[in-house]
Amino acid sequence: MSKFDFDLPIDRSSAPHDDSMKWGRYLGRHANGNAILPMWVADMDFAAPTPVLAALNDRLGHGVFGYPRVTPQVRDAVLLHLARDLHWQVDPDWLVWLPGLVTGLNVACRAVGEIGDGVVTAVPIYPPFMSAPRLSDRQLHTVPLTLQDDRPVWDLAALEALADSPAGQRIRLLMLCNPHNPIGRVWQEDELRALAGIAERHGWVICSDDIHCELVLDKTLRYTPLARLDPDIARRTMTLLAPSKTYNIPGLGAAFAVIPDAALRGRFERAMAGIVPHINVLGYTAMAAAYREGVPWRNALLDYLRVNRDLLVAGLGKCPALRVSSPEATYLAWIDARGLNLPDGQTAARFFESEGVGLSPGEDYMPGARDHVRLNFGCTRQTLEEAIYRMAKACG
Ligand SMILES: Cc1ncc(COP(=O)(O)O)c(C=O)c1O
Repeated sequence: MSKFDFDLPIDRSSAPHDDSMKWGRYLGRHANGNAILPMWVADMDFAAPTPVLAALNDRLGHGVFGYPRVTPQVRDAVLLHLARDLHWQVDPDWLVWLPGLVTGLNVACRAVGEIGDGVVTAVPIYPPFMSAPRLSDRQLHTVPLTLQDDRPVWDLAALEALADSPAGQRIRLLMLCNPHNPIGRVWQEDELRALAGIAERHGWVICSDDIHCELVLDKTLRYTPLARLDPDIARRTMTLLAPSKTYNIPGLGAAFAVIPDAALRGRFERAMAGIVPHINVLGYTAMAAAYREGVPWRNALLDYLRVNRDLLVAGLGKCPALRVSSPEATYLAWIDARGLNLPDGQTAARFFESEGVGLSPGEDYMPGARDHVRLNFGCTRQTLEEAIYRMAKACG
């Protein structure tokens, strides 16, 4: 039996612990007489690992919260993580500290090319991949992921066709999500090399958001950092990473970019200058403790999430109206609810919300995907089983 209790329910909706965005959306809202279960934004309902809590308590006890510096302990913990978990030898000079990955996505868009240049990504995708180019006065281009042997893959032919088209001439940046949110793919080396090849042929920079990289659920697969593949690829790549998803500390705002090329790194830092704040002292503390001491907790978490994923896929698999493919990584499942044949104007997210399950709407991830939803199964088994029950009942 695991010494970590992921079954323990932790109240996130009553004062003074009612500051959760995920639970706050549904405070006081009911469906069929039940409180709506929040299964949308990507944080988990578990307490962070004990060593992280101990390090934070210790830091709080010190009592002084002045401007932080990056200590050798923090830097070494990050380098340890990169070498031990990602098998990636990173020069400390390549690190750029960030208060979050969404910040990193927006900075990356501003750091590459000029106003009016293009950014390309594959949909469905985590919404800031689509908002960051627009907010940075860049032109957004998307290619839909396509199915190959029932498995979503990048449509390389469509990407090449876009790159060669007049509209694609101004693309300067490719944004990759590895593992991919929301479809949970762990991109394999041949797929990454193919994408990097296209980027190289067209002179694109790549921004790879690898925030979910430690959450690989499929034991036959391994996550590969794109920039580890070879030095030429590394030179055009900015990789965004954080302990936040894995160790459930996203509210502490601690992340970093790995940018091996000095000129590209300089442009990234220039785009941050004067706007992007430091990581706060507690974020640094939690990041270092998570990477140094969190691995046993993380491994137990992965086992728990694997069972959750399998329950979800089996439970919803019994509903002919739903298609849910088993995510290779992340605690997020992309659900195709087209079989519900919802009337015009109705969305799958609203349908399930009215049945007591609060999911992320598909349109946020891909224009027009109103009959898809994303479900966050980073929750206790009890919550998940209740959600599966409600969804299956709603589907009849
Ligand atoms: C792919 C991806 N990138 C970034 C984020 C958010 O990162 P941050 O909270 O560090 O801004 C998320 C959160 O769900 C995510 O899934």
